[in-house]
Amino acid sequence: MTTHVVPDARTAGSLVAERIARLVRAVPAAVIGVATGSSPLPVYRALADLVDGGLDLSRVTWFALDEYVGLPPEHPESYRSVLDRELVAPLGLDRLRVHVPEPGSDPYAAAAAYEADIVRAGGIDLQLLGIGGNGHLGFNEPGTPFGIPTHVAELTHATRRDNARFFPSLLEVPTLCVTQGLGTIGRARAHALIATGEAKAAAVAAALTGPVGPECPGSLLQRCPDVFVALDDAAAGGVEPTGQEIDAVR
Ligand code: F6R
Repeated sequence: MTTHVVPDARTAGSLVAERIARLVRAVPAAVIGVATGSSPLPVYRALADLVDGGLDLSRVTWFALDEYVGLPPEHPESYRSVLDRELVAPLGLDRLRVHVPEPGSDPYAAAAAYEADIVRAGGIDLQLLGIGGNGHLGFNEPGTPFGIPTHVAELTHATRRDNARFFPSLLEVPTLCVTQGLGTIGRARAHALIATGEAKAAAVAAALTGPVGPECPGSLLQRCPDVFVALDDAAAGGVEPTGQEIDAVR
């Protein structure tokens, strides 16, 4: 695990975008897992600049981490719409190469089909992740077993409250989702975690330096062989820079 601590979210995003670009230059048909939410936005902006500079993403296949159950794909806050807006349009991607779970009327079948799609694509080369204030990865909330595949999950009240900022009211935040499981996420060949802001400091410290176990889903990353972490100063608050594990870029 290499952990980079930088002054702001924009720089953290650029570092992660460079990590992604390094993969794509080596493996043009890479399979990349992508996240929604606020954390990855600086990554997508920096990637758009790299595309303007000539980075070719045309052969990459993309898999979203998760999707709400109960929102039609055209709802502005469905993760399909968010990725159309934040990833597909600015990077000029072929929308058909960006896979998002399609819960429709049978989320359980959709979860199984999504897991099968990832396997058929050869697995994920690099999974981009944010982390919840409670340590969740994707929508794998604390207590979720590490080995679980893509599944239907219930959002905790804390997560629904965190995500209420995207909806007119808390009542409209869905209660269920289809999410890549921790088993799916853990099988990715490499990971890039971006976390910014003080509200993430405790979760980052628990994930990177706390005990490994389902109580902190993010601690799964301590078991993964190739993890690139980019934090701003505020999110790194609880992480002690140590030896070569922490590569402070200042
Ligand atoms: C997003 C996802 C979530 C978020 C996490 C952090 O696809 O699965 O795990 O990464 O909730 O969200 P933000 O970045 O909005 O703080």
